[in-house]
Amino acid sequence: MPVTDASVATALYQRRSVRAFTDRAVDPALLKEIFTAAQRAPSGGNLQPWQATVLTGEPWQAVKDAVAARIAMGRAGYEPEYDIYPKGLTEPWEARRFGVGEALYAALGIPREDKARRLAQFVENYRGFGAPVMLFLHCSRIMGPPQWSDMGMWLQSVMLLLVDAGLASCPQECWALYGATVRRALALDDGQILFTGLAIGYAADDAAVNQWPVPRAPLGEVIDWQGF
Ligand SMILES: Cc1cc2nc3c(=O)[nH]c(=O)nc-3n(C[C@H](O)[C@H](O)[C@H](O)COP(=O)(O)O)c2cc1C
Repeated sequence: MPVTDASVATALYQRRSVRAFTDRAVDPALLKEIFTAAQRAPSGGNLQPWQATVLTGEPWQAVKDAVAARIAMGRAGYEPEYDIYPKGLTEPWEARRFGVGEALYAALGIPREDKARRLAQFVENYRGFGAPVMLFLHCSRIMGPPQWSDMGMWLQSVMLLLVDAGLASCPQECWALYGATVRRALALDDGQILFTGLAIGYAADDAAVNQWPVPRAPLGEVIDWQGF
């Protein structure tokens, strides 16, 4: 049963972005229970703007193949869906972004000079880090920032439920760099916009990439208490 009486906090502290999976298959009935529970996610006006395409086997391989062909074209192969980060990201966000990348490469023992290995690690994204299941989260292009935040709440609900069921995941907005490629492979119409991928499977617990501590900003940087 994916929906247990385990505490939300337990799932929150256990969840991390997993970047190495085993090839153990995922039971679709389990996924169905998880998506059923995730439908309880809140959304402004109860729009439930999230739409997802969930793939395994041959259709998942077809997306990987389509994107690999674009990657081989270099920068000319990009078909970006949106700016993943704001142009000219300033502090404190730039330091956080840089810091998590450095922590990941340090955990893998890849020095800054080793551009080839850093790139190879990044390209692992486009194998879904070996996950047997890929979920692509998309919505109608008419949706705006409030509905995109609704998609985030659904995504986190799914990720916590996956943890509760012994599964792991990695959200992957990197797919948006090849957004049109992915949409074509999924036969999504142009009225849809791709937000992110979510690699789903069982974590390869022994992998170093799944073991490093992921930093968080101290509360003082994000919460302004007033009137307490
Ligand atoms: C919407 C979204 C997209 C993300 N895209 C990627 C991605 O493309 N590749 C990747 O390795 N991690 C990606 N991440 C994972 C973040 O790097 C990660 O959530 C953050 O560093 C905190 O680490 P944690 O999830 O392990 O707690 C994404 C996270 C979110 C929420």
